[in-house]
Amino acid sequence: MKKHARIMVHGKPFFTLGGQTRNSSSYVLPEMRRAWASVKALGGNTVATPVPWDAFEPEEGQFNAAFVTDLIDAARAEGLKLVFLWFATWKNGTMEYCPIWVKKDTKRFQRVLHKDGTVIHQLSAHSRVNLEADKRAFCKLMQVIRDYDQEEQTVIAVQVENEAGILGGTRRDFSPLGEAAFAGSVPGYLVDYCKAHPETLLARRWQKAGAAESGNWVQVFGRYGAEALTAHAIASYIDEIAAAGKEIYDIFLYANVWLDGGSRGNNLNLAGIDWPAGCATIRNVDIYYATCKALDTIAPDNYQMELTRYNEVTRAYAHPENGFPLYVPESHAGNLNATLMFDAIANYGAIGYHIFGTESCVAPDLETLNPHAELMMHSMRMLTAAMPLLEKYQDTPRIHAMVQYTGEMGQVIEDVDGNWKLAVSFGRSGDGWPATDFRHDKASREEGQGIMDPTVEKARGLIFQVADNEFYLVGHKCRVNFAQQEPLDGSIPLTMAHPGMLPTNANYLSVTEGHFDEQGAYVVDIVRSGDEVRHGIWCQYDVGVIRVLLD
Ligand code: DGJ
Repeated sequence: MKKHARIMVHGKPFFTLGGQTRNSSSYVLPEMRRAWASVKALGGNTVATPVPWDAFEPEEGQFNAAFVTDLIDAARAEGLKLVFLWFATWKNGTMEYCPIWVKKDTKRFQRVLHKDGTVIHQLSAHSRVNLEADKRAFCKLMQVIRDYDQEEQTVIAVQVENEAGILGGTRRDFSPLGEAAFAGSVPGYLVDYCKAHPETLLARRWQKAGAAESGNWVQVFGRYGAEALTAHAIASYIDEIAAAGKEIYDIFLYANVWLDGGSRGNNLNLAGIDWPAGCATIRNVDIYYATCKALDTIAPDNYQMELTRYNEVTRAYAHPENGFPLYVPESHAGNLNATLMFDAIANYGAIGYHIFGTESCVAPDLETLNPHAELMMHSMRMLTAAMPLLEKYQDTPRIHAMVQYTGEMGQVIEDVDGNWKLAVSFGRSGDGWPATDFRHDKASREEGQGIMDPTVEKARGLIFQVADNEFYLVGHKCRVNFAQQEPLDGSIPLTMAHPGMLPTNANYLSVTEGHFDEQGAYVVDIVRSGDEVRHGIWCQYDVGVIRVLLD
């Protein structure tokens, strides 16, 4: 089965940037108006919203195609793309979005059982009947999207289930189906994966348990065996649904993740309590990587509020070499995310970024952004301005991130050809003068303030080097000076000896602010020269794309 490395629209990569609605917005179409308005005010291009199984198949075998096509029509009218979220067997470790005819039939649709026989309000991943019912409805959904949208391609991706796993105080299903699976053998390909990827957490667990070539789940994975079984059952279930859906309409499909505590841990690190057991968490993701052949990626809901935890998630889910690119379907509109998304995009190849609960970003007038969303608006506007460059240069060494960590005053970026050094300053220019232009007087006065304060908006941006001497920049609260690499003979040219001399000695052929037109051509809006360049190439989110041509 073919896997997609990127989300594509009309055969070209499409970087999705936007917001996910709250869980209940799509049930009543007019409720979507805040979501459309919010994503437009933020400067994004996509709304992600649920197609709940209970709304799509309210009676068995009777499908509500209009639920889907009405949403597509509305998104088109707003000029936005859609990601559909298939809330079915799993929604955050529950079966809340299953139709009533499924919820009421506990005999046909097997539930997860506790060890003491208590029935948990969740469908068992070991039941073929459950899987077939979900799959049939998902295939119908893909057919409706295909028939209505394959020309226009408003729907760009579909999420299969939501944060799948068992959240009910058990690490596995103790029903007769679950017991049989627990007593069964671990598939050989999981052992092969451990051998091929000895550095992974899964392989380390396997080694610790004795590196058995075969056996049941506990024999092969020790104490982790019970959750490994659940992860494998869920990964297989979701991937089978994805494969069947792709046969009907081949667009980007992914599964999202309720994260575990990563390497630092949370509470007692108990699957089934601290996160849904079997979800594609950092500790389980390799089982998904080994098992899933149809899903295009496994996507973390990255709400982490702390730098090292945030970065750990970015790295754990960026595996394009295994066929699983980084995609962040849910995150927050806060400072950390608005900053680190630039690192994820430039350094880890993130193919899209969404925030959750986008409705809360916009005021009741549907135009004014609420203050907490401003930083995200800055980020989205920068990324949108640079979209043609992003879609062209992502996954190449020609894209660089400027990212300020709390306490940092600067960063040095070396260009791909080894000719240039780019000195990025997060404070004031080398000569200490915080000049920008008349439009940014307030920004100039505030530049460099709050470097040590994690709650103050941090500097960030992207630099694209499209030719040896041609750079495009989008950024905020930072300025860049360009210098030639130092000579091999050990000397330091006078032009590099004092930071204040850098801008005056840079041989700019041209510095402009501009935008890309519909055809992707760069259009100059403002020329910068004299005072506007003599303190470095300063970047603010609202100046569009800065082009720098050097001699
Ligand atoms: C993650 C889930 O995937 C979303 O559907 C939503 O419930 C958010 N959590 C709420 O924080």
